[in-house]
Amino acid sequence: MKAAVYYENGPPEVLRYEDVPDPQCHPKGVVIRVAAIAIEGGDTLNRFGGPLMTNPHVVGYQAAGEVIEVGSEVSHLKVGDRVCTTSGWGSHAELRAVSARTAWKIPDSLSFQEASVIPVTFGTADDCLFEFGRLKAGEIALIQAGASGVGVAAIQLAARAGAKMVIATASSDERLEKLKPLGMTHGINYATHDVVEEVMRITEKHGADVVVDSVGGAVLQGSILSLAYRGRVSTVGQAGRDRQKMDLSTLMGGNRTISGVFLGAEINTDRVQKNMASLIDRVAKGELKVVIDRTFPLSEAAAAHSYIESRQAVGRVLLIP
Ligand SMILES: NC(=O)c1ccc[n+]([C@@H]2O[C@H](COP(=O)([O-])OP(=O)(O)OC[C@H]3O[C@@H](n4cnc5c(N)ncnc54)[C@H](OP(=O)(O)O)[C@@H]3O)[C@@H](O)[C@H]2O)c1
Repeated sequence: MKAAVYYENGPPEVLRYEDVPDPQCHPKGVVIRVAAIAIEGGDTLNRFGGPLMTNPHVVGYQAAGEVIEVGSEVSHLKVGDRVCTTSGWGSHAELRAVSARTAWKIPDSLSFQEASVIPVTFGTADDCLFEFGRLKAGEIALIQAGASGVGVAAIQLAARAGAKMVIATASSDERLEKLKPLGMTHGINYATHDVVEEVMRITEKHGADVVVDSVGGAVLQGSILSLAYRGRVSTVGQAGRDRQKMDLSTLMGGNRTISGVFLGAEINTDRVQKNMASLIDRVAKGELKVVIDRTFPLSEAAAAHSYIESRQAVGRVLLIP
């Protein structure tokens, strides 16, 4: 099969389009013919500096497609099923092998492109807001990097859950403008404005009850300082690639909490499995929207990664084999 691979970490140019052996089907897994690949923030981070589990390495968490082979111990999926999948690597390819637990059937009404985006973005945003952030109707949510894949999902989920305000940050006014139809009530351009000051001004000094932070570093410090009394931060990523250490001293006085969130650690639990089926259903019904910025052919994976790193994309960039 053809795949986008790399032999070493580095800039997007390390990606090459090559022939690699077809993946093997595990007894508890399936193999799919990939129809759409959603490039995750974790994929660009892995290419930049993450571990190469295979060499050459086929990066990538998310892809949707049709099941072409089923493992001997799998009973709930069959050849021909349409599924979206997630796994630690292997999405940037014409074929992918995954555990059957992380291959979810999708309804005919959902396109492969939409479905490819759902599990990691909506699943992660949901855990950040509700499982770990404990967001309730009437509270205030702050979504850092609101134009990111996780961000556009979090804005919608917070708005649908009845948040009183959904504040989002982004690196340009143009990006913020595109978040309004999703449910953002207030935007902060964090390239030109101080987030903590703006949050306190917008909320009349209440602060944010729940913050979803996928950027880390200096941005995470701002998230902590933006919290309301008993506020909760879900720290879920390092998109800023900034290893600044945190000052946690303001947490204690305000009975505030910071939780690390990693969807992968609980993806096999019944809780997340049930939640994933519900999120797929809500997208299929049109209650939640998948935001696709643009698509590239799989052979142009390097250009797609470059485009994402130019910080112009709102929502997801896809690869099509
Ligand atoms: N723990 C988990 O379970 C989990 C699950 C999903 C994702 N993640 C992590 O969450 C992070 C975001 O993932 P994603 O898929 O939402 O990412 P994404 O769609 O690629 O978006 C990343 C966003 O980060 C912002 N950003 C801030 N500083 C940046 C920098 N120096 N370079 C590039 N972008 C920068 C950009 O928005 P602005 O230009 O507007 O700032 C960009 O839109 C990643 O670190 C990923 O690994 C973790």
